[in-house]
Amino acid sequence: MFDILYVIILVHTSTTFAKCPRKSNYYWRDYFPGNIPEDAIEGCADRYIGQVQSNYYWRDYFPGNIPEDAIEGCADRYIGQVHHVRGDLVANIYPQNETAVTEEEGKVIYTRNIRIFCTPTPKQYRWEKIDVSKPFEGQMENAVKGGLQANINENLFIGKAFHEGECKIGKVIPMPNTYKGLWVWYNADGQPARFDEFYILKDTATHSQLCTVG
Ligand SMILES: *[C@@H]1O[C@H](CO)[C@@H](O)[C@H](O)[C@H]1NC(C)=O
Repeated sequence: MFDILYVIILVHTSTTFAKCPRKSNYYWRDYFPGNIPEDAIEGCADRYIGQVQSNYYWRDYFPGNIPEDAIEGCADRYIGQVHHVRGDLVANIYPQNETAVTEEEGKVIYTRNIRIFCTPTPKQYRWEKIDVSKPFEGQMENAVKGGLQANINENLFIGKAFHEGECKIGKVIPMPNTYKGLWVWYNADGQPARFDEFYILKDTATHSQLCTVG
């Protein structure tokens, strides 16, 4: 189903930390098929705890040049990230005019220092409709991290919605933050626009489970 999956495996050591007794004592090793590390622990009989790693990265975006492994978030629009004084924010890249737009107290336009979301396994990622006004357990599960809003200390996720007659990609502030939701901008006056209901980018590969109980 997926082109490439990177799987790593949970292991433990017998080391104790006298000064930091609460420090967790496990790590993930790369798993090479046919080779279970000696310090791996069985989660169930003959089953090990694995973690499927996300398979995306940010490339520098050079105007006029869309990398082959970039994915369109909407028709003719790409997922971007820009460095703002308040953090690394999710942005909408417009290849038509070689700009990236984000929302931070309104519309902010970037023409340089833009990064673009790329993956060699695009089918691993899909847009899921969510409504943050009707929260439920696991609603944000497997959402793809798109940046960090440092001033409120929140991870940002990647969302999109139809607004002012176009599809806009923007930052998602997770629940339960007061500012939760998808943030885009009005082209008319540059004011912010917040959505409860929108599409969020999710990683489908992280649903894989190597161990089931019961
Ligand atoms: C580029 O195009 C988009 C979409 O039409 C627009 O929102 C944005 O403001 C444009 N950028 C500039 C610098 O004109």
